[in-house]
Amino acid sequence: MSSFAAAWLARREPFDYAARDDALASAFLAPLAPGSLLVDLAAGTGSNISRLRSLAAELDLQLAWRHVDNDAALLALAQRRFADDASVTISQLDLRMELEAALAGAAAVSCAALLDLVSAAWISQLADLLANRRLPLLAVLSYDGRMQWQPADAADSLLARAFHRDMLTDKGFGRALGPAAAFRLAAALRARGAQTELRDSYWRIAASDSAMLPAMVASLSEAALRGARGQEAAAITAWSARRASQIERGQASLVVSHQELVATWP
Ligand SMILES: C[S@@+](CC[C@H](N)C(=O)[O-])C[C@H]1O[C@@H](n2cnc3c(N)ncnc32)[C@H](O)[C@@H]1O
Repeated sequence: MSSFAAAWLARREPFDYAARDDALASAFLAPLAPGSLLVDLAAGTGSNISRLRSLAAELDLQLAWRHVDNDAALLALAQRRFADDASVTISQLDLRMELEAALAGAAAVSCAALLDLVSAAWISQLADLLANRRLPLLAVLSYDGRMQWQPADAADSLLARAFHRDMLTDKGFGRALGPAAAFRLAAALRARGAQTELRDSYWRIAASDSAMLPAMVASLSEAALRGARGQEAAAITAWSARRASQIERGQASLVVSHQELVATWP
């Protein structure tokens, strides 16, 4: 399944919501002026804006939201999700070329599950734009390279290596930074004078999550197999079969680690 498919975004949303650090997000939102514009980059079907909008409501804070993505099918779903809310504007923009336009008029910037897809050049461009405008950033759910299965399998690290190799290929923004991306952006922002905070957040996928676990095995092994040949490919296929049978018996669980990044300007 594509990492951008609507069905996958819907499946991961409860795990995203359980993993996220809402206290960090609320502290990010609280200083924003009422009515100011928050731009959510690569917003998909609107998961991040939905969550942030609820947190803003708890703070009694009215904001305007710009939902930016380049995928027409995902934007149509977002349009439906936010149909009753005039504070959300949907914008179809290609963030590889139109990042500056996406940020026009913004008072703050957010993104979820985006950074691991982008390149070093894009990270520098984003850091420059945020620094020039002194825009605060909340970037949540960037996969950080740590994945822990229970029970452990001798081929877990082989699978992870092959998966990470695929993560570093072009995901639409040039050669991706993959698990290093959140750390690279934090460093780039600090070098430009920002204060940054990084926190771990975890998808905890229990043995009883009988839809998410097979989806994880399928997407991990599909990605891992893309660059694999010979013995490595055979080991990935065998790993996938072992995990499938454990999952069927309710005997496997998985924790996937992400980073939440907040950047502000003193
Ligand atoms: C993993 S999804 C995350 C979606 C959403 N932020 C969420 O948390 O559910 C990555 C998103 O990046 C968007 N995307 C990928 N390349 C893009 C580009 N060049 N311009 C704009 N959006 C892009 C995809 O359409 C997709 O919605």
